[in-house]
Amino acid sequence: MSKRWLTEHHSDEFHKKSKQEGYYARSAYKLLNIDEKFNIFKNIRYVLDLGASPGSWLQVTSLKLDKSKTKIMGVDLKKIRPVEGVKQLHMDVYSDQLEEEIRTYFTKGIDLVLSDLAPNTSGNKILDSGRSIALVMRAYDISHPFLRQKGKFVAKLFQCAEMNEIKHRLEKDFLKVQFYKPKASRQHSRELFIIASGFKK
Ligand SMILES: C[S@@+](CC[C@H](N)C(=O)[O-])C[C@H]1O[C@@H](n2cnc3c(N)ncnc32)[C@H](O)[C@@H]1O
Repeated sequence: MSKRWLTEHHSDEFHKKSKQEGYYARSAYKLLNIDEKFNIFKNIRYVLDLGASPGSWLQVTSLKLDKSKTKIMGVDLKKIRPVEGVKQLHMDVYSDQLEEEIRTYFTKGIDLVLSDLAPNTSGNKILDSGRSIALVMRAYDISHPFLRQKGKFVAKLFQCAEMNEIKHRLEKDFLKVQFYKPKASRQHSRELFIIASGFKK
């Protein structure tokens, strides 16, 4: 982490807010912005969160849903902090075991897949975008067989030439696919979210 990043981070409005409101990371506000705009938690019971550490999206999801009627699973290579009522998997999304874990836990399928998966950035834009695209496609390949009718898929990606190909790919399976940059996403960051809704089983 550079000195500039640390200075910006600590004076950042969303970083301060996350400390005050008890979220594990400022990224919580990106998901809250997405929900304000797209109402993603409406009619949702089963949620898979890929790239979930430290766990702020899981905190938001758990607050938005009635825990007695839902199932939420978070997956990450890194340790996820505790979130009540959430199943955590310490696993690589490229692991062959993941599919079986998902199948066993979500016996009725998944309504909403969230992916905030991010590669370790190298500073090389082409390489980083390639890795980010690969993670989005991996997230979609994993979730596709489990998504229920009218399901939703929300994933982070870095802006790049291939992003429209991903949009076209998702448009084959979903009624609506849009890009969105939440207010809480840093302006100089190339990250963007793809929001797909109305999965056609
Ligand atoms: C931006 S962070 C997620 C933040 C999280 N949404 C939150 O709000 O707390 C991205 C995460 O993707 C995870 N990740 C990257 N590649 C992964 C992989 N191959 N398998 C599992 N997790 C991965 C990283 O470990 C990192 O924790």
